[in-house]
Amino acid sequence: MVDATELLDAGERLGPDELRALQLERLRASLRHAYAHVPFYRDSFDKAGVRPEDCRSLADLARFPFTTKADLREHYPYGMFAVPRERIRRLHASSGTTGLPTVVGYTDNDLSMWADMVARSLRAAGARPGDIVHVAYGYGLFTGGLGAHYGAERLGCTVVPASGGMTARQVQLIRDLKPAVIMVTPSYMLTLLDEFERQGVDPRTTSLRVGVFGAEPWTEQMRSEIEERFAIDAVDIYGLSEVIGPGVAQECVETKDGLTVWEDHFYPEVVDPITGEVLPDGERGELVFTSLTKEATPIVRYRTRDLTRLLPGTARVFRRMEKVTGRSDDMVILRGVNLFPTQIEEIVLRTPGVAPHFQLRLTREGRLDRLTVRAEARPDAPPEAREAAARSIVVAVKDGIGVSVDVEIVDPESLERSVGKIRRIVDLRSRDAGQ
Ligand code: DLL
Repeated sequence: MVDATELLDAGERLGPDELRALQLERLRASLRHAYAHVPFYRDSFDKAGVRPEDCRSLADLARFPFTTKADLREHYPYGMFAVPRERIRRLHASSGTTGLPTVVGYTDNDLSMWADMVARSLRAAGARPGDIVHVAYGYGLFTGGLGAHYGAERLGCTVVPASGGMTARQVQLIRDLKPAVIMVTPSYMLTLLDEFERQGVDPRTTSLRVGVFGAEPWTEQMRSEIEERFAIDAVDIYGLSEVIGPGVAQECVETKDGLTVWEDHFYPEVVDPITGEVLPDGERGELVFTSLTKEATPIVRYRTRDLTRLLPGTARVFRRMEKVTGRSDDMVILRGVNLFPTQIEEIVLRTPGVAPHFQLRLTREGRLDRLTVRAEARPDAPPEAREAAARSIVVAVKDGIGVSVDVEIVDPESLERSVGKIRRIVDLRSRDAGQ
């Protein structure tokens, strides 16, 4: 393998002091830009009694107010824009499962910086110029497809813009065009796995060398499953549309120890989700981002709702963030116990006879919430193994998480498959409440 250090770009070669100096300079410029051009930021800074020039050190950022998804929705569609509309070259929007979507804009410079960050991410993942990259993130308003696409082109790769869906054709394309790299959600990778097997092709024999998986939480157990079944390196890519899209942080293939945050462009903080107080590196809390170089929609202290912690750099000078274990939105509170779908994923994936496909169904009986884990039997598992698997999941959840759940082992291929971001939780409580 090529020594990756030779390929680092100028930002990745900064020393720690140079990095902090660059961050501060960019942060001050970004705060000034937001304050001067976005009335929302002017009002919110004024209300908090701070001005951009009050930011004299990186720690001073803590004096500035947070920005939330609700703020972005309130200023739908163009209220958060800091440049004249004519300078906006592209728009993206987050799906918005509830209410209005949030719209983000990109100038030419923003698009170029984004492509640079995804190219950097791909290189850290082990992709190299000349590789064929199959992009199966959705193309469209979602940032996954186009973000991956332009980054792979920027790195000098050949891009197959497959987008999501049409699973049989995806497999055909991988067989025929022989990509070295695939970019896709981990849950859709599992859907592709089933399809390879259906077509009678051993997934270990494909040309794929690296998978760059993100847009949803996934666990170390899922990494092992995918790496083993496809004989590839599986690495994590993180991002969110409000900050830029994919390419905010990326796991380096040589260490696979969490995601390096590209903090020369996106400044991370971790805060206590309740009090908002900044936590020291190493402590778990809610991830908050401030953009350092974005022109069209600069973002100041955006509350991501993603839970993680910051760790010192290893493969790069930049800090790392631990794999995101969940969003505060996805947390289920069951009889006083907090539970994340990733905790169930860990258990399901280590249970013999059970496939990596599962769903969590929340129902209500009287005043009591119930959680049913529905997991698929592996096609080769004998029927009598189902009972044992169900019992073993019940016990593991009780022992590991401290709460009782019901478990149903269902037939192979009976649960809905993901074509993009998977929906793990089916919440039927409001239906039950109406009964
Ligand atoms: O999901 C951007 C993206 C596309 C990232 C492709 C990676 C790959 P949004 O649709 O705005 O943007 O959703 C952002 O998805 O706040 C996290 O909750 C979740 N998420 C994204 N990447 C990861 C990851 C894209 N690697 C939201 N691990 C974020 C866990 C992730 N969660």
